[in-house]
Amino acid sequence: MKKAAVSLILILAGCALLMAAAAAQEDMVVVDPGPFENPQRPPSTFRHEEHNLAADIWECNVCHHVYDEEGNLLDDESSEDMRCVDCHFLEDTGTQPGLMKAFHLNCKGCHIKEAKGPVMCGECHRWRQPAADGPGAG
Ligand code: HEC
Ligand code: HEC
Ligand code: HEC
Ligand code: HEC
Repeated sequence: MKKAAVSLILILAGCALLMAAAAAQEDMVVVDPGPFENPQRPPSTFRHEEHNLAADIWECNVCHHVYDEEGNLLDDESSEDMRCVDCHFLEDTGTQPGLMKAFHLNCKGCHIKEAKGPVMCGECHRWRQPAADGPGAG
């Protein structure tokens, strides 16, 4: 009985966390170019939640990954509470790609591999973001 109550509380707390994460993602329509000192391009379209639903990606750590010190990917850990720039500096460091390369390898890399999603500069770096329900949305 007591154990069940504790589990219920844990489940509810988990739901609240997931909802908070979902709310944060919903607001995201582009990747913040803030970390780049002097951005050359308009920010890349990325409607986090819609994108991942449309692309059928369910594991957060496909993008929010964690590696150990030897550079092995940790399959059951996620860095969704961190920004890419928290680990990826502007320049390459060792085997770790610099920030722009990290984005391009991650985003374009998957689009090329799956033959779906944009690979041309102007398809991601759009001067005008498409309307939320317009063509290209989600
Ligand atoms: C699949 C999407 C995608 C494609 C295709 C893409 N980029 Fe990016 N690029 C990004 C993301 C995401 C960032 C991170 C910051 C942002 O949102 O602009 C970025 C960052 C950059 C930056 C550093 C920030 C800045 O604006 O100076 C440059 C320069 C850049 N991209 C140039 C290009 C060029 C040139 C091409 C084509 C050869 C290209 N990108 C294709 C997604 C993309
Ligand atoms: C296709 C890649 C991808 C996947 C999959 C993904 N994310 Fe993200 N997420 C990003 C990128 C890129 C950012 C922006 C990071 C940055 O600016 O450094 C981000 C940012 C976030 C943020 C910060 C939100 C904000 O508005 O600033 C949260 C929270 C987050 N993701 C949670 C999640 C969770 C939870 C999942 C799994 C359900 C997930 N992400 C799956 C790419 C992804
Ligand atoms: C907790 C630190 C950390 C965070 C946060 C992080 N990375 Fe990484 N990333 C690494 C490390 C370490 C490597 C190098 C692994 C190795 O040694 O091969 C790496 C490698 C990569 C690579 C090349 C290998 C691969 O997986 O294709 C890409 C691309 C990449 N990161 C993109 C991203 C993007 C995009 C984000 C944000 C959504 C991000 N990373 C967030 C630590 C991080
Ligand atoms: C693991 C695979 C994967 C990764 C990583 C990924 N994408 Fe995608 N992306 C897709 C797929 C699949 C589609 C096509 C979805 C569909 O069928 O509508 C897509 C579609 C898109 C579209 C077109 C739909 C729209 O919202 O306009 C954009 C823009 C886009 N991706 C940007 C990005 C950016 C920016 C990143 C990196 C931060 C990224 N993607 C990372 C798989 C991925």
